[in-house]
Amino acid sequence: MPRSLTRRTFLGSAAGAGLAFGIPPSSAAEPTVVRPPAARAASAWPLSDHRDEAALLAVLRSGKWGRTSGGDSRVKEFETAFASRMQASHCVATSSGTTALLTALGALNIGPGDEVIMPPYTFVATFNAITANFALPIFADSDAASFQIDPVKVSAAITPATKLLLPVHIAGSPADLDALSTLAKTRRITLLEDACQAPLAEWRGRPVGTVGLGGCFSFQASKNLTSGEGGAILTNDETFAHLCYDFHTPGGGKKSASSGRGANYRLTEFQAAVLLAQMTRLEAQATTRDDNAAYLSELLRKIPGITPAALIPGVTRSAWHLYMFHYESAKFAGLPRAKFIAALAKEGVAASSGYASLNTSAHVKALASNPHYQRLYGKDTMVRWLDRNQCPVNDRLVEAAVWFGQTKLLGSRTDMEKIASAITSIQLRAGELARS
Ligand SMILES: Cc1ncc(COP(=O)(O)O)c(C=O)c1O
Repeated sequence: MPRSLTRRTFLGSAAGAGLAFGIPPSSAAEPTVVRPPAARAASAWPLSDHRDEAALLAVLRSGKWGRTSGGDSRVKEFETAFASRMQASHCVATSSGTTALLTALGALNIGPGDEVIMPPYTFVATFNAITANFALPIFADSDAASFQIDPVKVSAAITPATKLLLPVHIAGSPADLDALSTLAKTRRITLLEDACQAPLAEWRGRPVGTVGLGGCFSFQASKNLTSGEGGAILTNDETFAHLCYDFHTPGGGKKSASSGRGANYRLTEFQAAVLLAQMTRLEAQATTRDDNAAYLSELLRKIPGITPAALIPGVTRSAWHLYMFHYESAKFAGLPRAKFIAALAKEGVAASSGYASLNTSAHVKALASNPHYQRLYGKDTMVRWLDRNQCPVNDRLVEAAVWFGQTKLLGSRTDMEKIASAITSIQLRAGELARS
C-alpha cells in the first residue's frame, strides 16, 4: 500500500477495491483500474477498465446506439447473458429498475382499484411504481430479524382487491419466497419480485427473479451490477415476457395482445455494452462480498449490542448490496445511533442509518390527499388507507438499523477485522462519547 494511503483512505479507495479482485493498481500485464474523480474516490464505485472503454467505443463507432436500429444488438446480447446467468428463460432489459417495475406492472395491467402489497423497508421507487399506475400500495410490516417483508403480515393485508404481491429482496437478501409463493398460489395472486438490489442472490440454490412470475432488477450507479442507470425483468413465462417486451417499446411487430398501454423504457446499446463488461467481474466481486460478509458477521456477533440482519432459512446466497445490522444503544452506554455512526466515520468506517420510515413519510402520506386518488377511491378510503399503513415493527427497525454499502465488502479480511475493532473501540469509549 502506498505510504500516502492511510488505512482510512485505503478502505474506501479504488486501489483497495481493485486489489480485492486481484487487479494491481498499475501493471502493464493487467488492466488498470480507472479511478473515479478525487471527489468520489471514497466510494470507489463503479469500477471500470479497458474492457468497459473498448465496449463503449465499439458502440460509439458502430453507429448503432439503440436496439431498434437493426443488426446485432448489445442489448439483446446482455439479455441473453443475464437470463442465462440467472437461470431464467426470458429477460427484457429496461432503462432503470423503476421502468422495469413500471413495465412489469404495465404488462400485468395493474391500475386504479387494484391493491399491491409491498414492504415498508424499501427504496421509495417500489411505492412510486405502484402509484404511477394509480393502484393502491398496501404496506405489510417487516420481520425485525431479517428486515424483510413478513409473510404473516402479507397474508393479513390481502383483500379481494389485491392484485399483486410485490416483496423486495432488501439489501440483496431474498425475502421468504417459500411463504410468499405459497400465499400467491393459495390466494391466486401474482407474485412479482422487486429484486432491484439482488442480482446473483439465491433462494434454495436458485437465482431470484423467477420464483414468482418475474423479477425486476436495477443497474443504477450504486448497484452491484451497474451501467449508471438500467434495469431488467426476468421471467420463465413466455406470455409475460412478450407483454413486458411490447409494453417497454412502442410500435413494431407486437408479440402480445394489447391492453392499449405502453411506453418507451428501452435500455441503450451503450448501457448494455457496459453491463456486459461489468459482468466479467461480477462473479469474483460477489464471491468476495460473500466471504467478507460471512466473516464480518462472525466478528460482529461477538460484540454485545450489534446484531447482523438474519438471512431467512432458504437463502443460499445474498447479493450483499447492503450489509445491515441492528444497533442497540443500551449496550453502548446509551450512545445514540447518530453519534455511533459519527464515531465510526472518525474511525474511517463510513456507515449509514439506512431508510427512514417510508410508510409515514410526507411523500407517502401525500397520496391520501391526492385529488386523483380521492376521486378514484373516495376520501374516506384514503383516510382509512393512512390507518392501514401502520407498521410498528418497521417503526422500531428504522430507529435501530445501521448499514454498510456493498463496496465495504470488497476489501480484505483485515478490512473486516478493522471494522469490528473500530466498533469495539467505540463501545469501550461509549460513555465518554455519549457525554461529548
Ligand atoms: C428496492 C428497489 N426498488 C426499485 C429501485 C429502482 O431502481 P432504479 O433506481 O434503477 O430506478 C431500487 C433502486 O435503487 C431499489 O433499491
